[in-house]
Amino acid sequence: MELLAEIEKRRAKRALSEKKIPADVVDRIMTAATYAPSCFNNQPYRFLVVDQEQELEKIRLNMPDANYWAKKSPLMVLVATKPELDCQLDDKRDYAFFDVGLAVENMILQAVKEGLVAHPIAGYRPVSIKKAFGIPDDHTLVVIVVIAYPGDESSLNSKHLTSEHSERSRKSREEVVFFNTFRVV
Ligand SMILES: Cc1cc2nc3c(=O)[nH]c(=O)nc-3n(C[C@H](O)[C@H](O)[C@H](O)COP(=O)(O)O)c2cc1C
Repeated sequence: MELLAEIEKRRAKRALSEKKIPADVVDRIMTAATYAPSCFNNQPYRFLVVDQEQELEKIRLNMPDANYWAKKSPLMVLVATKPELDCQLDDKRDYAFFDVGLAVENMILQAVKEGLVAHPIAGYRPVSIKKAFGIPDDHTLVVIVVIAYPGDESSLNSKHLTSEHSERSRKSREEVVFFNTFRVV
């Protein structure tokens, strides 16, 4: 199968290194994120790049134990938006979250190209983190992208160690891709 190498390579890896990520690499990753398309070119994403130890600690303190592995990361990107920052069209077409997703995938794929792991997580205490960083209440902290060089697997629990080497798991193509006739599955 000939897919873009970065799409093929990207996985939700958890074995991370604490090694710092150079500024030019971070710059390319964030540029990639902002090159994504958005409705009416509204660019509704707000990225807070966190790489200072003291600031990273504020995030770590608000992560559940299940995301213990993420605490090693030297770079976390807080991704926020609110519906009013983007097109809000009929039939519930609020595009802010959609456009944030496009930008985050660009970010992730560029990070993979740079030899990094880029793992989005939803497991954190959003209200506390928003407060700690002065992100307004009316913004949603959609995701945190944990970025790091690949690291030592010895700190992973057995479930995550297995997952690190598992096959990609996906629904069958028939459940999600239809040709010409929509099906409710
Ligand atoms: C929005 C979102 C939230 C996620 N939250 C977490 C999380 O909190 N902790 C975690 O270990 N993985 C998290 N993941 C990773 C997914 O579990 C992973 O992408 C999925 O199992 C598919 O595996 P793959 O990315 O290796 O194909 C999240 C992924 C996404 C897109």
